[in-house]
Amino acid sequence: MAANPVSSNAVAYTDDAVRGFSLAAVLWGVVGMAVGVFIAAQLTWPELNFGIPWLSYGRLRPLHTNAVIFAFGGCALFATSYHVVQRTCQTPLFLPWLAKFTFWGWQLVILAAAISLPMGFTQGKEYAELEWPIDILIAVVWVSYAIVFFGTIGIRKVRHIYVANWFFGAFIIAVALLHIVNSAALPAGMMKSYSAYAGVQDAMVQWWYGHNAVGFFLTAGFLGMMYYYIPKQAERPVYSYRLSIVHFWALIFTYMWAGPHHLHYTALPDWAQSVGMVFSLVLLAPSWGGMINGVMTLSGAWHKLRDDPILKFLIVALSFYGMSTFEGPMMSIKTVNALSHYTDWTIGHVHSGALGWVGLISMGSLYHLIPRLYGRTEMFSVKAIELHFWTATLGIVLYIAAMWIAGVMQGLMWRAVNPDGTLVYTFVESVKATFPFYVVRLLGGLLYLGGMVLMAWNVVMTVRGGRRSVAYAPQLVRA
Ligand code: HEM
Ligand code: HEM
Repeated sequence: MAANPVSSNAVAYTDDAVRGFSLAAVLWGVVGMAVGVFIAAQLTWPELNFGIPWLSYGRLRPLHTNAVIFAFGGCALFATSYHVVQRTCQTPLFLPWLAKFTFWGWQLVILAAAISLPMGFTQGKEYAELEWPIDILIAVVWVSYAIVFFGTIGIRKVRHIYVANWFFGAFIIAVALLHIVNSAALPAGMMKSYSAYAGVQDAMVQWWYGHNAVGFFLTAGFLGMMYYYIPKQAERPVYSYRLSIVHFWALIFTYMWAGPHHLHYTALPDWAQSVGMVFSLVLLAPSWGGMINGVMTLSGAWHKLRDDPILKFLIVALSFYGMSTFEGPMMSIKTVNALSHYTDWTIGHVHSGALGWVGLISMGSLYHLIPRLYGRTEMFSVKAIELHFWTATLGIVLYIAAMWIAGVMQGLMWRAVNPDGTLVYTFVESVKATFPFYVVRLLGGLLYLGGMVLMAWNVVMTVRGGRRSVAYAPQLVRA
């Protein structure tokens, strides 16, 4: 078994789509996070709605989630999966023109989302807001993506299928399944439709989708990145290849059943809620197994963490992955969820995963990838990568600490009752008490966004003016 991702400079790789998606990820990262900062400011000072409907919080919030998850995260996943699958299969992409189609198709989806969401068109399903014509376009692009990815595996020149490809492959198949099932709807006009499901079934399908969007879009694909870019950047083999296989099967089996933890204390039958809780608790094991496998890959190379900022991004991402996958199972326990649900604790959990895991692992992987794609020896400014790392980390800590404190405080205030059974606090009192924490979150968000802007500058300078590596030839770039 190959314990290390293989690479070669003898194959003429097709990297046009990889380059396009990498740059798009950086661009959409800046845009999506800027919208995040803006809605964080609106929660602090609601006047920032300016009375304009398309600037209202309810329309910009889904714009933020769609932009950061599907535009920033999605483009990073397309870029890295197309890059990794070629290097580990020792072959160029299957149907490169179709890969280019996925690039332009995906950008069209993003553009359609950026126009239709502020205009107020929505199906009202979280992370699946886009209306049916856009959903069809997503399905077409995604199936094309699957053809390119699995086609490339099909024409591979090595027998073994490296573990990163298993994770990318599971992500592609699961997202196709989730998207097609959850988006089933009856059109009632060009930009209006009704879900094919009703009542609690609709809620269950939606959160089966929603949680597996976390499990496969925000986790499995990024684990694919981890299994390639950490060994590459650390110049060490994966700590345990055997563990990576156990990690893969345990994770994808368990995630599928955990969705009901989003529907505790609802009309969903109690037994289904308990199934969701139990599978969520089980999920701690594969999640931590994977995290440990990634971190231990640094065995014997810990000193590299001191002066390699890219490695810092990759390894600290794993620490946040470990934190959020410990917190998630705890929050899925019904009695804990009774406190956390509806509060900013959930928002803190989301962003420790989103900023800490998804954000940092993408940024680290892109910093590794981009200079290689343009034949540069390294990024234009390594100092700027270091600065980005520290601003991002400080930003995350401010963001999530503020939300944890605010969340627990809100939960406790809402459930506090006087001896006569009346509420101790009005809702407005809890909103007032939250204000300072919203200011701190905004500050954290600004720092995180600042780091992303710095990255965009560094990327532009690298593409335009960085030093060329001696061995550069456009089609023969080393992995
Ligand atoms: C500068 C960075 C960011 C800031 C300031 C920010 C801010 C926000 C705000 C204010 C909300 C709404 C919270 C609420 O409704 O109470 C939100 C929601 C959300 N954000 Fe971010 N965000 C940032 C980056 C990201 C990134 C990079 C991701 C994903 C990769 C992400 C994923 C999400 C998700 C999934 C939600 C919805 C959470 C839920 O419904 O529970 N955010 N964000
Ligand atoms: C073992 C892994 C995990 C488990 C068991 C888990 C569990 C949970 C639970 C119980 C909630 C709160 C549900 C509610 O009260 O409404 C939640 C919310 C959420 N989690 Fe996790 N979590 C895990 C990992 C992650 C990771 C790594 C990320 C991000 C990369 C993430 C993203 C989210 C999002 C976006 C939500 C908010 C969904 C919404 O209401 O819009 N989770 N998770």
